Amino acid sequence: MRLDRCFNFHDFRALARQRLPGPIFNYIDGAADDETTYRRNTQAFEDCDLVPSVLAGVADVDLSVTVMGQRLSLPFYCSPTALQRLFHYEGERAVARAVEKFGTMFGVSSLGTVSLEDLAKNFSFPQAYQFYFHKDRGLNRAMMQRAKEAGVPIMMLTVDSITGGNRERDLRTGFSIPLKLTLGGMAQFAIKPRWAIEYFTHERFRLPQLEEHVDMGGGAMSIGDYFTKMLDPSMTWTDVAEMVKQWGGQFCLKGVMSVEDARRAIDIGCTGIVVSNHGGRQLDGSRSAFDQLAEIVDAVGDRIDVLMDGGVQRGSHVLKALSLGAKAVGVGRYYLFPLAAAGEAGVERALLLMRTELERDMRLMGCTNVGQLSRKNLRFRPRTA
Ligand code: FNR
Repeated sequence: MRLDRCFNFHDFRALARQRLPGPIFNYIDGAADDETTYRRNTQAFEDCDLVPSVLAGVADVDLSVTVMGQRLSLPFYCSPTALQRLFHYEGERAVARAVEKFGTMFGVSSLGTVSLEDLAKNFSFPQAYQFYFHKDRGLNRAMMQRAKEAGVPIMMLTVDSITGGNRERDLRTGFSIPLKLTLGGMAQFAIKPRWAIEYFTHERFRLPQLEEHVDMGGGAMSIGDYFTKMLDPSMTWTDVAEMVKQWGGQFCLKGVMSVEDARRAIDIGCTGIVVSNHGGRQLDGSRSAFDQLAEIVDAVGDRIDVLMDGGVQRGSHVLKALSLGAKAVGVGRYYLFPLAAAGEAGVERALLLMRTELERDMRLMGCTNVGQLSRKNLRFRPRTA
């Protein structure tokens, strides 16, 4: 399999699988418990059909959208994901270069491997800085201050991960940071020497958003420990209201799944929410974001920017979510497998394919801009089960 033979998500996934040691591939590909939510995330799009209009004069298609004050050339963006330099030695830098070229947004993870300052200084794209809520309130304030000083326009607080999800694939291989591989896991690294050569001949692995506060790169604390010891499961709306006030700018909650919580997000001053179940990696059995989108848009869509992510693999998936009223759609594994497969060239190809699919599908739907997409163009199939 070669990059120029990759035409869709499944091709990129197959190429990533060839290149990556098994434990790393499974960290990206896996999800929580029985992975039912993970599977459902993509299936949900298939329960909904598109009804096109014809003869609409669709020579020029404009895919741009405005999200939380940012003008994006595309209605999809790269969701924040951890540990990218483990997948490809260039990690976030490769993603940033591709994102910049395509004019969209990139969520930079607090478990990222390139610093938010480095990305803000060297690339030009709207950065959403993703962070978690720590027990140490001083640490939360310090992280927001850093992001403010770097000129980050959007804070994105992930609210569905106050404790780590049960990722059984990782338990089997021993994947963690630092790596604590099982014998089987070690054997899977030994058969991918190219990955090891690239990894060990480049910049040392770091977690620069956190390293001043937590010694994970050095090995004193694992990511599992980080979730259980440092994050604060007692956080409440009052705590987050305080943070929103301190930030004083665009503030978004990632992982909101109910209408009630969407309303509360507005009450505390948030300007965006991402309807998301974290790619099925947290609460297995949780509803898919696409299934949950309509009721949230109906309740709050005129007062807050509603985004969604989870299971998106095709331009038509993005189109369906936009038709339901999402302002923009996040992709995770859709760009991570290409990153692992071929670095910047891989991410660029994935974004190009998605943009091309969207342009084609918009024309076939009879729409020249995203604002023309509506529920009139959608029909939901009756559930069989
Ligand atoms: C994630 N996601 C995630 N979310 C977040 O808020 N902070 C993070 O550090 C990460 N890390 C992360 C790593 C990996 C390997 C994956 C696959 C996902 C969740 C991510 O932002 C997004 O919600 C999902 O990836 C969306 O689902 P799809 O597009 O992967 O199906």
